Amino acid sequence: MIKTILTISALAFFSLGVSAQPTNKFINQEKLKTMEANKNNTPVNHQFMPLPYAYDALEPHIDKLTMEIHYSRHHRVYYDNFIKAISGTPLENMTINELFEKMSTLPAAVRNNGGGYYNHELFWENMAPGGVPMSENFGKILTSKFGSLEKLKEEFAAAGMTRFGSGWAWLNVDVNGNLFISSTPNQDNPLMDIAEKRGTPLLAMDVWEHAYYLKYQNKRADYITAFWNVINWKVVEERYDEAIVKNK
Ligand SMILES: [Fe+2]
Repeated sequence: MIKTILTISALAFFSLGVSAQPTNKFINQEKLKTMEANKNNTPVNHQFMPLPYAYDALEPHIDKLTMEIHYSRHHRVYYDNFIKAISGTPLENMTINELFEKMSTLPAAVRNNGGGYYNHELFWENMAPGGVPMSENFGKILTSKFGSLEKLKEEFAAAGMTRFGSGWAWLNVDVNGNLFISSTPNQDNPLMDIAEKRGTPLLAMDVWEHAYYLKYQNKRADYITAFWNVINWKVVEERYDEAIVKNK
C-alpha cells in the first residue's frame, strides 16, 4: 500500500515537471485515495469526510456547539463552494496538491474554498479527544529543533496570536527536512505557491474566530492554550515521517 501511495504521489509529482516541492500527504489512506488524484483518467473525488470523533469529544477544551457549527456549516460551505468553483472546468480533474501548486493563477474562489476544505481536513485529523502524546523519538526531534517543547509551544502560540484577523498557525517541514513554524492568512496554507514560506503542514491550528468565539469570545490566547490539550501527536509524527521519506 505504501508503495502504491508513493507511486501515485510520484506520478502527480513528476507529471508537473517540478522538483523539490512540498508534499501534500494524508496519513489516513482512505483520505489519500479520495483527495489525491486517481491517475486512471477518472475524476478526482474530493469527498466531504466524516469528523473522526463526536462533536462533544474534545470537551472541555473545544465545546460541542462550536465543533458542530464549525464542521457541519463552515467546513461544509467551503467544501460545497470548492466543488462548485472547479466543477465543469479543467480544474476538476486536478489533485488538490496540483491546484495548490498553481494557486497564484487560479480564481479566488478556488483559493479560499479549496484551502478552507483542505485546511479543515488537516485540523480535524490532528486533534483527538484528550490528545495523543508524541513518541519519545519525535519529542527529541522537536526538542533538538526548537530547544524544548515549551519553546515550540511558545513559538506556535505566537504564530497564532500574531496572525492579524483570520488565518492559521502551522508546524511544517520543508523539502530539506527542516521543521519550521508559520502562519498564513485567510484559508491559505504552506502548500500554496503564494505562501511566504512553503513546506508540508504537519500540525494545523485554526485561528478564525469561528473556531473559538462561542466558548472563548475574544480570548484567542485561551483557545490556543486549550488546543494544546487535544493535539494528536501521533498523526503529526506520521505526517513528518511520510514527508521525510517523500523528500528523500
Ligand atoms: Fe475554521
